[in-house]
Parts: sequence; C-alpha cells; structure tokens
Amino acid sequence: MRRPMVAGNWKMNGTQAEAAALVGGIEQGLAGVRHAEILVCPPYILVPVVAEWLSGSRVTWGGQNLSAHKSGAYTGEISGSMLRDFGCSHVIVGHSERRALYGESDQTVAEKFRAAQSVGLVPILCVGETLAEREASQTETVVARQLDAVVKLAGIAAMDNAIVAYEPVWAIGTGRTATPEQAQSVHAFIRARLAQLSATVAERLRILYGGSVKAANAQQLFGQPDIDGGLIGGASLDVEEFLAICRAAG
Ligand code: 13P
Repeated sequence: MRRPMVAGNWKMNGTQAEAAALVGGIEQGLAGVRHAEILVCPPYILVPVVAEWLSGSRVTWGGQNLSAHKSGAYTGEISGSMLRDFGCSHVIVGHSERRALYGESDQTVAEKFRAAQSVGLVPILCVGETLAEREASQTETVVARQLDAVVKLAGIAAMDNAIVAYEPVWAIGTGRTATPEQAQSVHAFIRARLAQLSATVAERLRILYGGSVKAANAQQLFGQPDIDGGLIGGASLDVEEFLAICRAAG
C-alpha cells in the first residue's frame, strides 16, 4: 500500500508571522489526520524558522527548488546540501512555474533531480501539460518526455526514492481542476510507462495530483486508484482548507 501524501507548496507567499500562524494551525489540527504524510514547502527564507517550529512534529518540510550544482559561484542559488542542513526531507523539482518562467529545461530538471538525491533529499518531480498541449492531444507525449528525461539521467531505480506530481498547467491557480477521471488517466499513464522499466518501482511510486485542489474536490481526486495524494498551492495557505485536504487523504 502506498502511503498518501499531502504537500503544501507555499510558492512565494508568507511573512514570518503568517508562516507561524499557518504552521501552528496545522500542528493543532493534526489529530484528525490519520495516516497521510504531511509536508510543507515554504520559500527558502522561511525554511529555518519552519524547521525550528516543526522540529519533533510529524509534519516534515522541504524546498521548492534547488540548484543543480553542489556549491560555488552561483549567486542567488541554494544547494541541496543547504536544504539538508536545515532539515529538509524533500524538494520540489521541475515545477511548471520554474519551467515556464525560469526556463528550466527537461535536462536541467533531471540534473536537479539527481542533485537532490545525491544529498539524500527526496525529489518531488513535477510534470504536466499546458492547455494548448492538452487541446492538441499532446498530454501523454509531453508527460512522457518530461519523465523520460529524468529516468534517462538518473535511472529507473532512482524513482524508488522519488515522488512524481502530475500538475496540468491549465489547472494551476485557475480554479479549474482536472476531473478525477482526467487526472486518473494521466496518473495511470505515468505508472504504466515506468512499469515498462520496473513493475515494482512503478507500483511503489507515489504520484500526487496538483492543480486547484481544495477541500471540496480532494476526496474525489484522492479516491482514484493511481492518485496518492496532492501537491497543494493556494489552498495550502489556509489552515482549515489544508487540514481538510489532509483529512481527505487519510
Ligand atoms: P494551486 O493549488 O494553487 O492550483 O497550485 C498548484 C501547484 O502549483 C502546486 O505546486
């Protein structure tokens, strides 16, 4: 059985005071969340305080991005080992906002994935198509290309220590969620594609759905056989919404 996960991607949001209220609220409401694994991914600058507040909690924390490099003259960048130094267990790689706004190619994302694993971080690899790609029936082609770039560089065994998040770009921050059937179909495709290389790895891999997940639609999405939880943007900034989503995941 795959343990469900709910991860909050705070994106570029939050002051220290807001983060404190959010983390405090999540901690207080955890009793109702049975066995889902809960992760929060604050902006880099809030990682140290979040790490302090969550020390000893069952909620883990991670980064939203990392450098593909280990250290050195990369002004403004943060390495995987720096995230590890502040207790991060996971890191998001290849979020569509990084791909679209910061020009991250499939190759860069694959290198970041490998950099994360090399320091013991579990990468959450984001894949997903744009609206134009979906309308051109390119969803599977795009998702396969994004996935294959990582598997080619890191190897199929590396997927055993990773999480995949399917985030259709057209559903991110738009309020337009993929239907449970649309999401399930792509999740099943991802699992089947990896199963061609290793059925065991594919079966164990957790595949999260992201894109306008809210308390109101979480249960239906998480009820699909290949959806193992969610990567939550906007709704992860609201304590009650986020906790309700966590409860929906089990
Ligand atoms: P929203 O939940 O705000 O649509 O964002 C999803 C996302 O991008 C999570 O990484």
